[in-house]
Amino acid sequence: MFSVGIITASDKGSKGQRVDESGTVIQEIVKQKGYTVKRYVVLPDDYEQLSQEMIYMSDVLNIDLILTTGGTGFSERDITPEATKAVIDREVPGIPEAIRFYSFSITPRAMLSRGICGIRKKTLILNLPGSPKAVKESLEYVMDSIQHGLEILLGKTIECARK
Ligand code: MTE
Repeated sequence: MFSVGIITASDKGSKGQRVDESGTVIQEIVKQKGYTVKRYVVLPDDYEQLSQEMIYMSDVLNIDLILTTGGTGFSERDITPEATKAVIDREVPGIPEAIRFYSFSITPRAMLSRGICGIRKKTLILNLPGSPKAVKESLEYVMDSIQHGLEILLGKTIECARK
C-alpha cells in the first residue's frame, strides 16, 4: 500500500501549546484505508521549514502522499499553500476544487481555505484546512480518487475503469 507523510502546520502545536487533533484524524483515516504513516511532524507556520520538510519526505523518504493540515487561511502566518507551490512540479487543481465544492454544502467558509495540491516527482502533496472537522470532511471526500491518482502516478495501473 501507499506511504504517507503528515505535516501539521501550527505555531502553537509546534511549541506544545496545542494538542494536534487534526494530525490524529489524518492518521486514523489513512490507516483505515491501509496506508502506512512513515513520518509525522508538527511544524511552525514557517515557509522554509514547511517546504524543506516536503522536499525531505519526497526526495529522501520517497513518500507517496504528503498530507498537510493548517495554515491555509487568511492569518498573516498562514503560508502552507505558498510553501507547497514552491516544491511541486505540477499542480493538481481538481482535488482542492472538489474539496471546496463538497465543503460548500457544509459551510460557506470553505471558500476561505487557500489549500492547493500538486505532484513533486512521485509524491502527491495535498493541503487540508486546519480544524479536525474540516480535515475529516475534506479527506474522506477525496480519499478514493486520491488512491486512483496514486496508482497512476506510481505506475500501478494505467487503466481508468469507467463506472
Ligand atoms: N472546510 C470544511 N470542509 N469544513 C470546515 O469547517 N473551515 C473553513 C475552511 N474550510 C472548514 C473548511 C475555515 S473556517 C477556514 S478559516 C479555512 O478552511 C482555513 O483553515 P486553516 O487556516 O485552519 O487552514
